[in-house]
Amino acid sequence: MLNQKEFNTRRLKLMAAMGEGVAIIPTAPEATRNRDSHYPYRFDSHFYYLTGFPEPESILVLVSGSDPKSILFCRDKDMEREIWDGFRHGPSGALKEFGMDEAYPLSKFDEIAYALLSDQPRLFYSLGSNPDMDERLTVWLKNLRSQGRSGLSAPDEVVDVLKLVDEMRLFKSSHEVEIMKRSAAIAAGAHRRAMRFTKPNMMEYEVEAEFLHEFYRKGAQFPAYTSIVASGPNACTLHYNANNAILKEGELLLIDAGCELDGYASDITRTFPISGKFTSPQKDLYELVLAAQASAIAKVHPDYRWNDPHEAALDTLIRGFIDFGLCKGSPEEVRETGSYRQFYMHRTGHWLGLDVHDVGEYKDKEGSWRRLQPGMTLTVEPGCYVRPAENVPEHFWNIGIRIEDDALVTSDGCEIITGDAPKEIAEIESWMQR
Ligand code: GLY
Ligand code: MN
Ligand code: MN
Repeated sequence: MLNQKEFNTRRLKLMAAMGEGVAIIPTAPEATRNRDSHYPYRFDSHFYYLTGFPEPESILVLVSGSDPKSILFCRDKDMEREIWDGFRHGPSGALKEFGMDEAYPLSKFDEIAYALLSDQPRLFYSLGSNPDMDERLTVWLKNLRSQGRSGLSAPDEVVDVLKLVDEMRLFKSSHEVEIMKRSAAIAAGAHRRAMRFTKPNMMEYEVEAEFLHEFYRKGAQFPAYTSIVASGPNACTLHYNANNAILKEGELLLIDAGCELDGYASDITRTFPISGKFTSPQKDLYELVLAAQASAIAKVHPDYRWNDPHEAALDTLIRGFIDFGLCKGSPEEVRETGSYRQFYMHRTGHWLGLDVHDVGEYKDKEGSWRRLQPGMTLTVEPGCYVRPAENVPEHFWNIGIRIEDDALVTSDGCEIITGDAPKEIAEIESWMQR
């Protein structure tokens, strides 16, 4: 749990960036899974970033200007509901525990927030992510516009508040880094456990059970995304998640799995041999992907831009594809024609944080890839996926490999925070002997 002061600081920083106006930021709705069962509740990342408040049915209102104010609308205390569903902080708890200037029950939102909005120059709201709130605010704006004769005026502008928050979220504080490192350590431990338990003839879901066991045992609240446990040819389906095939001797197993700890995602992929020993063609392609990852990691450094790690990985992969007879022509031709895309069709990473594919622009205002800066966190995840095809040497068929780590940009390069998951061939083979 982050301390209250950090959340206060974030809200003040956002309000300073807003200038004068009112921001309305609701959390995520609860979602029904089937009939009267719900999905486990997960707050909205932006809302949580600004409040640390975990309950559904909550709305943050910020009034910025000379006297900035944070106001939370949340569920009222309700003993009957709390007996069934659990503790609620209620408005008084929101004031005490979450450093709000004012807090009210949700039932007061329409009345109070509508009044706050009148005579303000700007409404800061992100249209399109909450249909309910979109509709409510549209009605409010319409009403305010028609009340000119009573001296009330509607905001002139509606500004996407979340863009401002995206930029803040891109740079992680030391508290956030500390949580992300713990999230990464849990996920790395889960990958080690999966390697240790994997044997031929198990089912993919049995391996999934092993790393889920480790996530929950170590206090992670959720998997950060749907886990991929893909053996043999399944690894060539990028978003495979049926996880119900039998593990065959001689094949590889690709696991892309990370956990969410106190809101923060880790995202790790490891690929290893089901029988504990790489075959020679598997080793060739694995070493190539590992080399591509190393060349990308060398460019995760404030001297470089967002796209440089991807370009470095691509250079290495293309040279390897040519050496192994997967692509024909010079490196320049393979790049130009895009023939490498038969085997590498995704990019080498993404921002990481409260969301696994975290927020933040990848380009600067001039349209160039933005420079990497200390405090940014991202994944580095090159891969190679070989489906059977006439133009492909048969010994490479059905090999799918990805190696994914999480990196924190530092002043002189980067720190890999997922390094406890083995990825060198010798390391994997020895870990699997245990
Ligand atoms: N697991 C999703 C990703 O690697 O981007
Ligand atoms: Mn990823
Ligand atoms: Mn991943």
